[in-house]
Amino acid sequence: MTVKVLFVCLGNICRSPMAEAVFQKMVDDAGLADKIAVDSAGTGSWHVGEKAHQGTRRVLAQHGIEYNGRARQVRHNDINPQTYIIAMDQSNLNDLQRNFGQHPRFYRLLDFASQNDVQDVPDPYYSGNFEYVYQLVVDGCAGLLATIQQQEGL
Ligand code: 4NP
Repeated sequence: MTVKVLFVCLGNICRSPMAEAVFQKMVDDAGLADKIAVDSAGTGSWHVGEKAHQGTRRVLAQHGIEYNGRARQVRHNDINPQTYIIAMDQSNLNDLQRNFGQHPRFYRLLDFASQNDVQDVPDPYYSGNFEYVYQLVVDGCAGLLATIQQQEGL
């Protein structure tokens, strides 16, 4: 059975596409591409259909990671028990819980990080600090993959 992972932020143009691309590369490198399906979405609809923000595309390219996704909004059928739903910050998590109720697999990405002084991936839409966001995303994604491998016996 395929494990699903859905990264969620507000706009689905900055943080969650970056996490999707970083995690997909980790999954590919671990030889688990046929076991783990990776996707991302936003709680908001403002940017539906758009490419990722150029800051996200640039930082991914600098780290040799490809990404061609387009923004979409979270849908009811994304929320199912087989899916790890990974919010980028507490506000995203609150929005998910308000819109979709409780779910056994709602998490924040940095719950899985090795550093524990930052719990929320900051929004680079205003700060422009995409490299800092990338470093946090890599840390969280590495911990997430290890957790999924352990929990799912992969
Ligand atoms: P993201 O960043 O949630 O990381 O994709 C944002 C993108 C757009 C907006 C806010 C955050 N916005 O207000 O349009």
